[in-house]
Amino acid sequence: MTPNPLRTLYWENGSLFLLDQRLLPERISYLQCRTATDVVTAIKEMAVRGAPAIGVSAAFGMALAAQEEGGVSGILEAAGALRGARPTAVNLHWAVERMERRLEQAAKKEGAALADLLLQEARAICEEDVAANRRIGAYGAALIPDGAAVLTHCNAGALATAGYGTALGVIRAAAAAGKALQVYAGETRPLLQGARLTALELREEGIPVTLVTDSCAGHLMAEGRISLVLVGADRIAASGDTANKIGTYTLAVLAERHGIPFYVAAPCSTIDLSLERGAEITIEERDPEEITAPGSRRIAPAGVSAFNPAFDITPAELIDALITERGLLRKPGRRGLKDLLAKEDS
Ligand code: MRU
Repeated sequence: MTPNPLRTLYWENGSLFLLDQRLLPERISYLQCRTATDVVTAIKEMAVRGAPAIGVSAAFGMALAAQEEGGVSGILEAAGALRGARPTAVNLHWAVERMERRLEQAAKKEGAALADLLLQEARAICEEDVAANRRIGAYGAALIPDGAAVLTHCNAGALATAGYGTALGVIRAAAAAGKALQVYAGETRPLLQGARLTALELREEGIPVTLVTDSCAGHLMAEGRISLVLVGADRIAASGDTANKIGTYTLAVLAERHGIPFYVAAPCSTIDLSLERGAEITIEERDPEEITAPGSRRIAPAGVSAFNPAFDITPAELIDALITERGLLRKPGRRGLKDLLAKEDS
């Protein structure tokens, strides 16, 4: 058995340790990040991934920058590099901006005192993420009927966050409340976060999980085997349009066709009111080789081109409810999202 729960990241003796998710499920190995540049590389190469997890990692990345020699300008330079490490998940920008605000307030501090202050802020972001996920779980569990078969996509679990998870947090909370559940996990081509990470987390948690190919979703729904679809999010525009792992939009269209509820679970740090609609969200395009030569084994003829967007946009009208740490929002849209962000955590 793998240690349960697996720790996505931790801070020890002035370094950030990241569970290297590229190696899962075969190997549990932690990557030691001593500098902000190490964290930028880990985010780019997806040793750490998942919207909240990359935000928390970036916050610690800024704490690492504060330990380096470059002073405030070095920290700001690191902030720019961290922000640019991946484009779609807004949590990354949110966390870096929060750290920059802390830096601004601490203008008179320098050296070890400044580094300590930024480390405290990164720790707070990390702890708040786990607490938010637990609240998301508690609110979302109410939407999961006893005996439900839940289809999820990618990995929105403890591994995609500082702990507990968003969509998988809801599943965890429902299971802890004594509900019998069956989870179908889409394998999530091309990097297989569903097969490698979601299946691992649920198996370790003792929650029944069945792995399916991404293209199996329509068949499962047509056979009446899915009660609801539950996914995470990388960025939610003011309209409620939601970016999440490529293939999510397909699931939402299928769910509507089959009259199956489609839910998104995400912390408020995923909401970006600066963008009106989903079409304005930058979609990360990754190396075509992830498709043509997964795990370095070539499966497509040499020279064949491939298109590899990492995310897609699900229009708000296909989303039945957004589950956040501040409550449920049915049919998310501008007014509801604005009110939600104005609300205190409860
Ligand atoms: O490319 P990834 O693995 O970072 O994509 C992750 C997802 O799409 C998750 O569903 C999303 O970040 C929500 S995680 C709580």
